[in-house]
Amino acid sequence: MSDKKARLHVDGMSEVLELPQYEGTLGPDVIDVRNLTNKGIFTYDPGFISTASCESKITFIDGDKGILLHRGYPIEQLAEESDHLETCYLLLYGELPTVAQKEIFVNTIKKHTMVHEQISFFFRGFRRDAHPMAVMCGVVGALSAFYHDSLDIKNERHREIAAFRLIAKIPTIAAMCYKYSIGQPFMYPDNRLSYGANFLHMMFDTPCEPSNVNPVLARAMDRIFLLHADHEQNASTSAVRLTGSSGANPFACIAAGIAALWGPAHGGANEAVLNMLNEIGDEKNIDKFIARAKDKDDPFRLMGFGHRVYKNFDPRAKVMKQTCDEVLGELGLENDPLFRIAKRLEQIALEDPYFVERKLYPNVDFYSGIILKALGIPANMFTVIFATGRTIGWIAHWNEMISGDYRIGRPRQLYTGATKRDYVPIDKRG
Ligand code: SDX
Repeated sequence: MSDKKARLHVDGMSEVLELPQYEGTLGPDVIDVRNLTNKGIFTYDPGFISTASCESKITFIDGDKGILLHRGYPIEQLAEESDHLETCYLLLYGELPTVAQKEIFVNTIKKHTMVHEQISFFFRGFRRDAHPMAVMCGVVGALSAFYHDSLDIKNERHREIAAFRLIAKIPTIAAMCYKYSIGQPFMYPDNRLSYGANFLHMMFDTPCEPSNVNPVLARAMDRIFLLHADHEQNASTSAVRLTGSSGANPFACIAAGIAALWGPAHGGANEAVLNMLNEIGDEKNIDKFIARAKDKDDPFRLMGFGHRVYKNFDPRAKVMKQTCDEVLGELGLENDPLFRIAKRLEQIALEDPYFVERKLYPNVDFYSGIILKALGIPANMFTVIFATGRTIGWIAHWNEMISGDYRIGRPRQLYTGATKRDYVPIDKRG
């Protein structure tokens, strides 16, 4: 930490407050305001727009330049050269694995892909038409009932095994959510397959037919998981950290992350993008929807556009668009009408002053839904896919926090409610 200082003059205080100012290896400096409470004052930052909640070494984002680094490696290079499990290793341990380390890690994950047979009974409590995110949140939270006693979060090995279990089991549970919704039998993982291929196998194969996973689609599925792996202190990762700061079971923490991701302003946006494209229906309707997105009196927003941090292209969106081209080409869907509408919508929005002035660019969710639909995945499963990819990011941040010095997260508030007043018996009220 540097010996820089920030000086704060507060009306009503005689002294100028000196606050430590720290610089990271990348990104803006931060001002340590932890001692302000002792001075009888809080900072105020609803939505944490200007607040660094922690120190982290996992992911760096430069929103103005559209840069995303995982442990220093650009997302574009990882998407091109790496795969999801190797990126999981990188996010968890901080370095790319050697050949031997990768082989051990991949084989270890394979040994945890099955879930306890009792888990399948949890699904039966849900209606078949329950939203898969509700099912996934419930089932992942239920995993804490299977491992709670054998889990000491202060034990590094216990944390590592919890990480293995979650990375390995989340695709299995995600596919079970889908199979349950369509009334087909659950498919067991096939550990001869890669991570992406195994997921498509569990999603679309049945016991009646030999496995038939297209390797191009499997690679695309793996890349979609990789592109969703982590994204600094986003809403769901912050939910995982806050939940974990109380010492909660890691499976319960990941369930908290799944719940936070579900919202349409966050991970639910990919499902909302596809619904929006379907509602637009034809390129001739685009201008009407652009006008609605700009209308302050209309709650409609262009889903898949804008970002709290990126004020440039989301680098993941560029890779996702390339993957979209690949998948549609492989499936002979180059003229997919939704893809055409999406490309036209992007082109118009990027030229419209409203979006340009507000630096609203396509984000990771804009193209992912088109790929997932082309893969045969229904829109209500899109955020389940996002959660499956993001699980490693949640676990890596949870592990980073628990393995370091941390305190229970406990924000304060600006109170504007009633001042102290005495109770009025009901027969004395107006
Ligand atoms: C993800 O944080 C992460 O890292 C998240 C994520 C991850 O990997 O974890 O990247 C994943 O959540 C991506 C974002 C997915 N969400 C959507 O695509 C939903 C649509 N986007 C918006 O809801 C919005 O852009 C947010 C929520 C993403 C960001 O909102 P902010 O930062 O709070 O911005 P804002 O609401 O203050 O908007 C600033 C201005 C406003 O207009 P003015 O008041 O200045 O006139 O931009 C406008 C907004 O009305 N605006 C939009 C818009 N997004 C912002 N107008 C039309 N369409 C949009 N999509």
